[in-house]
Order: sequence, then structure tokens, then C-alpha cells
Amino acid sequence: MLELALEAERNAIRRYKRRAAQADALDEVALKVQIEDLIVDETRHAEEMERILTDWKT
Ligand SMILES: [Fe+2]
Repeated sequence: MLELALEAERNAIRRYKRRAAQADALDEVALKVQIEDLIVDETRHAEEMERILTDWKT
């Protein structure tokens, strides 16, 4: 269950990175920054899940 949630976070990060690159290519600086903030949030979520999974298995 938690592994699926972690994979969903990682997929979201991959998709947001693509969207940030597209915004950059269109010179949409504000949009790119907003998407990067989302990447920060999702990365934090993924790291928390990785930590929980690591602690769970030890
Ligand atoms: Fe998330």
C-alpha cells in the first residue's frame, strides 16, 4: 500500500519535471516556479514515505 503511494509520488515528480521543462521552453517563468514548488512538496512526501518504509522494515 505504502509502496504504491510512494510510486505515485515519484510519478507525480516525473510529470511535474516534464511540465516545468515545457514551461521553461515557453519562457513561462512564473508557471515554471509554481511547478517547481510542487516538485519540492512531492519530493518531501516521497522522502517521508521512504523514511517510513525504511523504518518499518528495520
Ligand atoms: Fe504528494
